[in-house]
Amino acid sequence: MKKAIIYVYSGTGNTKLVAEMYKEFLSEYETTIFMVRMNRLDNPPREDSDTEITLHKGNKKHAYFNVPDPNEYDLIGFAYPVHGFNTPSAMYNFIKLLPPVAKGKKTFIFKTSGEGLTLNNYSSQKFIPLLKRKGYDVVCERHHVMPYNMIFRHSPEMVKDEYKYARAYVKLTCSQLEQADFREKVRYFPLRYWFVPIVRILWIYASVQGPTMYADKKKCIKCGKCAKLCPLENIKIVDGFPKFGTNCVLCVACSFNCPTKAISIGLLNGWRVNGSYKIVQTANDESINSGYFGEGLKGLHRFLYYKYYRRLDKLFNENNIEF
Ligand SMILES: Cc1cc2nc3c(=O)[nH]c(=O)nc-3n(C[C@H](O)[C@H](O)[C@H](O)COP(=O)(O)O)c2cc1C
Ligand code: SF4
Ligand code: SF4
Repeated sequence: MKKAIIYVYSGTGNTKLVAEMYKEFLSEYETTIFMVRMNRLDNPPREDSDTEITLHKGNKKHAYFNVPDPNEYDLIGFAYPVHGFNTPSAMYNFIKLLPPVAKGKKTFIFKTSGEGLTLNNYSSQKFIPLLKRKGYDVVCERHHVMPYNMIFRHSPEMVKDEYKYARAYVKLTCSQLEQADFREKVRYFPLRYWFVPIVRILWIYASVQGPTMYADKKKCIKCGKCAKLCPLENIKIVDGFPKFGTNCVLCVACSFNCPTKAISIGLLNGWRVNGSYKIVQTANDESINSGYFGEGLKGLHRFLYYKYYRRLDKLFNENNIEF
């Protein structure tokens, strides 16, 4: 059987959930999901894989342990959440360290985001040329809208349909990826191309805002969940309370999952969303209505989602995808 690997960077679990759909629908491949997380070198490596490569970050204080060698796989996927219309710096930096592959290795990208604006399509602008230089042949890129972990909370009706649409889109993509000659040009519309590097300021902001994050000691119950979840090991527990370092990439895993909403995320705190969406459970709950993204969409939500979902409806129609 052919082998696939998906390198997944995910803060609050949406991208990981979609990666699991890819694993389910790539029926011709035995698929491995590797979660991109960094360890401090003064900590023992996390035991979540049995493969061998260790990639050291430039500062030599951090490393990615047990990274599967891409050369051993027939199909490679890269997956990340869109952050400020860009690839998160953590994913970009990981790819920089990843070994090159034999030229022409079949590769796909998918990303998740909280809204459907086409500007999100430009997030891999810096990332794809880097992959190409390393021999990865990107045959397609997919954008899956999932519940927002920032700015505003999605309603259960939105979550239900986001999940349903994502599954159907993944199913279609996997059947395409299994065709030997499948290739879709990843296009960038030049008039919008300029905008994305400007928003990449978030990379710099994320790295300087780390120390402005704090946990309210009156609310914190010293559960240690935030430190455990941080994909960059940026949180140390001191006297039971979290202490934030300078390695933050603003993935919001800590503040989103804090059971007492104790964590403040600096200047962006007004946009903080807290608490799991329980996506699969919500999607399977028959008391929640479907069809949120249909013709009834109004105002801001129409602007953010309508075009995205009509494009998917058209695509599913053309390809006889039922869901
Ligand atoms: C710092 C930050 C910036 C974000 N920027 C965008 C954005 O530009 N566009 C968008 O649609 N969603 C944006 N989001 C929402 C996430 O991309 C979305 O919720 C994603 O599914 C989260 O995936 P994860 O759970 O795998 O981390 C942002 C989230 C964060 C935390
Ligand atoms: S997750 Fe919240 S409650 Fe738990 S240690 Fe961190 S800040 Fe405190
Ligand atoms: S400190 Fe919080 S927001 Fe920053 S990288 Fe860690 S989990 Fe993500």
